[in-house]
Amino acid sequence: SQYKYILSEKVGNQKNVGLVTLNRPKALNALCDGLINELSNAINKFEKDETVSAIVITGSEKAFAAGADIKEMLNQTYSANITGGLLEEWDTVSKCKKPIIAAVNGYALGGGCELAIMCDIIYAGETAKFGQPEVIIGTIPGAGGTQRIARSCGKSFAMEVCLTGNQFTAQEAFNRGLVSKIFQPDKVVEEAIKLGERISQHSQIIIQLCKESVNNAFETGLAQGLKFEKKQFYGTFATEDRKEGMTAFVEKRQPNFSNK
Ligand code: HXC
Repeated sequence: SQYKYILSEKVGNQKNVGLVTLNRPKALNALCDGLINELSNAINKFEKDETVSAIVITGSEKAFAAGADIKEMLNQTYSANITGGLLEEWDTVSKCKKPIIAAVNGYALGGGCELAIMCDIIYAGETAKFGQPEVIIGTIPGAGGTQRIARSCGKSFAMEVCLTGNQFTAQEAFNRGLVSKIFQPDKVVEEAIKLGERISQHSQIIIQLCKESVNNAFETGLAQGLKFEKKQFYGTFATEDRKEGMTAFVEKRQPNFSNK
């Protein structure tokens, strides 16, 4: 493989799901710069690849990712954070226009938890462990933890997670709406790929508009979000796929989308 810290392949019956497996087992997939650069590169490639409709990010059964690489951060300085644009490369995942599913087993801690939450959907194994332990090592979440957990799960839970550093279970993450489904650990990746395949059956242009609209719920107030959604909805009528989808329904057949 061209990568040192990850594996990247196309999977599913139609090979239309991009699968990235974080593969730095000795460090429990600690997210060193090299790994994040490779992840960003792989996501960018899948984003440009027209044959790929959805992406799955996973780790191992022991660890999705145990956080940013503490050994690498140890001697990092404030000024180098600024001049080097620390964490900028992480945005590739949150900015990707295609759906990204996190398939989480084992530890998803610190930046690992934030990476999962950055994805559009989380599927978790029963024994997955989430947490934002940054305060334990004298820092705070820096890749969205304080913001996305607060928006998804409310203030009290976000505060408890971020201020204690305590881990929480897959069941708890599910109860709080952070995770959409829980599976046996050995089924998580397979189910995430199936989910990617299901999404891939739809028009990719419509999926992109839909993802953008849901994301708006996290970025704007309700009135603005509703207005944005309506514009996106109106916009679907400028596509051939909207016409095809509705025609197929009326003609009682499967749609044949052209992504136009
Ligand atoms: C660097 C790490 C690491 C990390 C584990 N390792 N987590 N290296 N950065 N985040 C390394 C260990 O040093 C060790 O290597 C090997 O992985 C196995 O880890 P152990 O601790 O021996 O395993 P175990 O006893 O099973 O404990 C697992 C664990 C623990 C509970 C996940 O490793 C742990 O607490 N890790 C740190 C979790 C954390 O604090 N994450 C947040 C990081 S800060 P060696 O070679 O030493 O034996 C962060 C900031 C985000 O993420 C900000 C924006 C991105």
